[in-house]
This record gives sequence, C-alpha cells and structure tokens, in this order.
Amino acid sequence: MSERIILGLESSCDETAAAIVTSDRRVLSHRLLGQESAHAPFGGVVPEIAARAHVEALDPLVRAALADAGLRLDQVDAVAATAGPGLIGGVMVALVTGKALAHAAGKPLIAVNHLEGHALSPRLSDPDLDFPYLLLLVSGGHCQLLLVEGVARYRRIATTIDDAAGEAFDKTAKLLGLGFPGGPMVEQAAARGRPIVPLPRPLKGSAEPHFSFAGLKSAVARAVGQHEGDDIAASFQAAVVDCLIDRTRRGIAGVAATALVVAGGVAANGAVRAALQDLAAERGLRFVAPPLWLCTDNAAMIAWAGAERFAAGLTDPLDVPARARWPL
Ligand code: KG4
Ligand code: ZN
Repeated sequence: MSERIILGLESSCDETAAAIVTSDRRVLSHRLLGQESAHAPFGGVVPEIAARAHVEALDPLVRAALADAGLRLDQVDAVAATAGPGLIGGVMVALVTGKALAHAAGKPLIAVNHLEGHALSPRLSDPDLDFPYLLLLVSGGHCQLLLVEGVARYRRIATTIDDAAGEAFDKTAKLLGLGFPGGPMVEQAAARGRPIVPLPRPLKGSAEPHFSFAGLKSAVARAVGQHEGDDIAASFQAAVVDCLIDRTRRGIAGVAATALVVAGGVAANGAVRAALQDLAAERGLRFVAPPLWLCTDNAAMIAWAGAERFAAGLTDPLDVPARARWPL
C-alpha cells in the first residue's frame, strides 16, 4: 500500500495539539500548545478552563500544522482524533473538530484511544519495534503494564490500585511547593537532593504485579517540614523508581515479549528510563523509549495510532461517541 498521510488531533487533558504523520513514520508537522500558565494558580488542571482553551487553540494549530507540512486538508488521507479517555469537555473538542474536518474533506475518521496513542508511540520513533512488547505506560492518569500484541490487541497485565505514577509526582510537587506540572520540577529537585528520607515502597515484593502510590504520597506529606525539600524529592523519586522496577520485573515473568518499552509522561524522567534500561539488560530484552517530546501528550502519537489503525482497516462512523472513561 502506498504511503498514507494522517492528520492527528489531541485535547484530552491540558495540551492542545495537531500533527501530520505519514504511514512511513515521517512527522511532517507537530504543533502543540500547553495550558500550564492557565492552570498553575489552581495547582492542577481545571476541566472547564481546559475545555475553553482547547476551543480557542485547536483551529489555529490545525492550520499551522497543515501549513508547516505544505498540505491542504484535502491532501490528507484520514483524520485521527482522540475520543477518550480524559476530561470530557476537552475530549469533545478534538473529536468534534476531527468529525467536521473528516466530513468536510470527505476522508475517513479514526477515533483513537489516548492510551493507544501512548502505547503505539514507540513504534513511530523505532521502526524495528515489533509486536509483542511489554509496555510500562506511566502518565498523569494511568500506570499500567500492557502486553502490546498488535494494533487493537492489548492485554493488561497490571494497573494501579490507587494513584497513577504521574499523579504521585504532581502531588509531591504540590506538597513541596514546587509548582505545576510537577514531574519535571520533582526531577530537577531530586537531582539537587540526597535520597536519605526513609519512604515506603507500596506493594514491593507482592505476587501480583499491580502498582500503588497513595501510601507514598502520605509519607511524603509527613516528611514535609522534617527534611530538606530536595532530599524529599530525591527520596520520593528513588521510591517510585524502586516500585516501578520491582513491579515491572514481576510483570515480565511469564510473558513472551520482544522488548521492554516505556511510554507516557513519566517516561520523560531520566531516573525511570535509566532503571528500566538496566532491567531490560538484566532480562536480555531490548529497551525502547520514545524521545522526550513523544512521551508527554502530543498529537503525533494520535496521528501515528491513526495510521496504524487505518492500515488495519479500522475507521469509525461520524457518530462515534466521546468517552471520559475508556479502558484499553
Ligand atoms: O502522558 P502525559 O503528558 O499526560 C497524561 O496522559 O496524563 O503525562 C503527564 C504526567 C504528569 O503527571 C507529569 O507530572 C508527568 O507526566 N511527567 C513527569 C516528567 N515529565 C512529565 N514525571 C516525572 N518526571 C518527568 N520528567
Ligand atoms: Zn497522556
């Protein structure tokens, strides 16, 4: 089949994004507008503010993405839009925009699960990554181990029983007064501190490979005021890494995978990446992590998941619903 050009749209959380990606892995354009400053005063994403900001931002971003790629709308082969899970007011913006563009251009619509975007994103940056692979999907809303067996074939091996890993980073940042978004701030503080604060490793050593971070967050709250902030950050990050590695090592046992792969916003963390690389080496597995810009939310991963679904013959009707909850 000849090369296909896919326009991707994303607005499920606090990034508005549009990108154009080809089925032979060329990112022709990728535009993104974050809303950090709008949400920072509230210490977290405010759904109503996010939805309004997406409405204002998306149309200019689509125009810019087309202009960057030197394409007209009718030259794309399909429109892929995130249809969930996420903040429903935000999800609807990209999905309804995608429907309108697909209808106007007479091209197929592909409704993409945001988690599938993260799950397939490593195959955009690494042409040699074949199915099946074991994926640690660590973002602000999710913490899962998935066996990615193929496009639309995901087997969930483990999930978090309370908070997501990124959520724990964000809450720790808030407790330490480091600002929002928290992950990168905690990573910077951790680099200045020493991991000397005793913190728990929830579920470490348990037989099921599930994750838990709520107890860690409470322990961080108790440590505030007793220790230096940077030392707490370093200790927290060390505890998260320890838990992620222990749980992933448990999850690997018994699955046949070609590679250990990490994706999602927390995959941008250097300590997390380094520890997973060591684990992969220990297991004789290849380690694959997308470049940092592809780890955090973006539309190139949605366009790429669209390209993979399109190649598999998976397109959607224009009445496809937006979903706040949508397990992979
Ligand atoms: O995938 P993502 O951009 O959005 C969701 O789908 O949730 O992930 C955002 C999460 C946030 O919780 C953010 O604090 C975290 O990823 N994050 C990081 C880093 N960069 C982003 N966590 C740890 N270290 C980082 N460098
Ligand atoms: Zn995400």
